[in-house]
Amino acid sequence: MSDPGIAAGAVFDQMAASYDRDFTGSLIGRAQRNAVWNVLLKTFRAKDNILELNCGTGEDAFFLASQGISVFACDASQQMIARAEQRLALTSPSTPVVFCHLPTERMGELSLSRRFDGVFSNFSGLNCIEDLNPVAATLAKLVKPGDRLLFCFSTRICLAEISYYLLRGQPTKAFRRCKGHTEAHLNGSALPIFYPTVRAIRRSFAPHFQLRSRMGVGVAIPPSYLEPWANRHPQIFRALCRLEDVLAHLPLFRTTGDHILLCLERVDA
Ligand SMILES: C[S@@+](CC[C@H](N)C(=O)[O-])C[C@H]1O[C@@H](n2cnc3c(N)ncnc32)[C@H](O)[C@@H]1O
Repeated sequence: MSDPGIAAGAVFDQMAASYDRDFTGSLIGRAQRNAVWNVLLKTFRAKDNILELNCGTGEDAFFLASQGISVFACDASQQMIARAEQRLALTSPSTPVVFCHLPTERMGELSLSRRFDGVFSNFSGLNCIEDLNPVAATLAKLVKPGDRLLFCFSTRICLAEISYYLLRGQPTKAFRRCKGHTEAHLNGSALPIFYPTVRAIRRSFAPHFQLRSRMGVGVAIPPSYLEPWANRHPQIFRALCRLEDVLAHLPLFRTTGDHILLCLERVDA
């Protein structure tokens, strides 16, 4: 399969049925998502029309819709989109969400008469894309100066992951993100994942977009593969969630958690 977006979609197809159980509904998934939702509410407002990239099963699209925000939500995985559409069919017909099976690399196929008030991507869908420059150039045509992009990437250095795997005597896994790319193996299929630094992301999005803010997500809250631990230690987990509110904004900590949430603004280039 030569188209990387289509290939990534096919790999995620295999995860679609269990994604909400394994991540969306997990303690860690919910805690990390709540942190993103707090920023979403400050970034977009009712009546905005938002483009969501790599929307998965639509959890964030339905949240935005509940706030009166319209969402055009895309994903490369047909199965993820099918799950999202099943859920949409159960909601009120006026829910302002449209789901579309479209890889991010092909956003240029959206009609240019279509304009959005902002773009959102949650939980690492953009880490599946090797070259973000064409994505930035396309998005620059879909939003206007002053509009914002809110992107949640997996970080290159995750201190919790490094410590966890080093303690287990697995140095290769501990440092798997640090070289900037790796291959995830899901049900026998290989998926290339990229870990751009904040500086590289800024460079890819310039000159059309400027970085306005950054916040860590999953700084004190651990990565999702520690869900069994979080379930066994609910009190410690709750304390980590409170600590997250502080650490997520501190320089150094905010770039070394599981994810980083970047807000970029469209500027006149
Ligand atoms: C970890 S999931 C996150 C899903 C959702 N944003 C969420 O917050 O639950 C990553 C998503 O990115 C999608 N994805 C991966 N590569 C993509 C691409 N090139 N274009 C569009 N979607 C892609 C996958 O199909 C998957 O649904």
